[in-house]
Amino acid sequence: TSLKHLNTFGIEAYARYYVEINREDELAELFADAKWHSIPRLVLGGGSNMLMVSNFDGLVIRINIRGIEHRINDDEVIVEAGGGEVWNDLVNFCVDRGFAGMENLSLIPGSVGASPIQNIGAYGVEIKDVFESCRAFEIATGQIKTFTHADCKFGYRESVFKSELKGQYIITSVKYKLSLTPRLNLKYGAIEQELAARGITNPTIKDVSEVVAHIRVSKLPDPSTIGNAGSFFKNPVIDVNKFRLLIKNHPDLVNYPAGDGFVKLAAGWLIEQCGWRGKVVGNTGTWKNQALVLVNHGGATGQEVYDLSSAIIDSVYAKFGVKLEREVNIVGDPA
Ligand code: EPU
Repeated sequence: TSLKHLNTFGIEAYARYYVEINREDELAELFADAKWHSIPRLVLGGGSNMLMVSNFDGLVIRINIRGIEHRINDDEVIVEAGGGEVWNDLVNFCVDRGFAGMENLSLIPGSVGASPIQNIGAYGVEIKDVFESCRAFEIATGQIKTFTHADCKFGYRESVFKSELKGQYIITSVKYKLSLTPRLNLKYGAIEQELAARGITNPTIKDVSEVVAHIRVSKLPDPSTIGNAGSFFKNPVIDVNKFRLLIKNHPDLVNYPAGDGFVKLAAGWLIEQCGWRGKVVGNTGTWKNQALVLVNHGGATGQEVYDLSSAIIDSVYAKFGVKLEREVNIVGDPA
């Protein structure tokens, strides 16, 4: 099976076996066959946070579990969505009904089931701010387990599903806790500016959602026309002593507080300073409006994109002594 249309990078790669799961109980049926326990597995949602560097000699499981339900309790709204729902469809469902909390996360590509794995976030909000719990299938036992907020151990683009429990569970549905009373998060400067430009002084969640979508479209390439997986690297967190030395030589260094003794740097800025922004390298390159995003200009191989990412890591390290980490999942073994 070709995975070209199942990854937003639009990389041509093949899977040895492929199965689509439409209901939670189909997972138990699938794994009742011992054969699938001993071969490599790849769980796919929207395929928006991965880079395929080779064909996949194993089983690709596409989660297509649908459905959105909600329950209103006074001011609180619990929304439960199937892991295969498109994330932005869920955001629109909530924004249209006045369920507040996810509006800043508008237009993030990917699926509901993937949202907790890397604690997706944008414009001052992360999924952990609205996450209530999720259901996940344990491959080894065939049991469904519920993960509470604490169980997930969320961090910046991190959760237990990416670390200790990596590859052991498949998220089948997620519950979010939203509110009928908006608590708008407008900290991110570009949101305030765009609201002001539109003459909106008392924004609704719909306004915020539209403004966020506008900002994203202006900065980020649309994966349906230019293959990409959003930010390719994480924003690096460094200790404050190292930061003090760095900022002496680079007074414009873009930085944010990251808790006691730590500072987060803007990887996009570091990459741009090394001359990469908008650069085209073969069929790949970095996006002209956001150097943190690597793109497939057409016909790129995963290896080509991977090699570019290695070159970027090396040059940022040489100039700033900061080691960038990839945020997208690398599938297969790079050469
Ligand atoms: N910057 C540059 N040059 C660039 C890109 C950025 O100088 O080429 C500077 C900007 O001027 C700004 C700063 O870096 O001062 C931060 O840029 P931006 O606001 O675009 O956000 P980011 O830190 O690059 C993060 C997330 C995005 C998320 C945005 C908005 C990560 C790895 N990325 O990017 O998430 O949409 O903030 O909240 O945390 C994703 O994870 O796939 C993703 C797109």
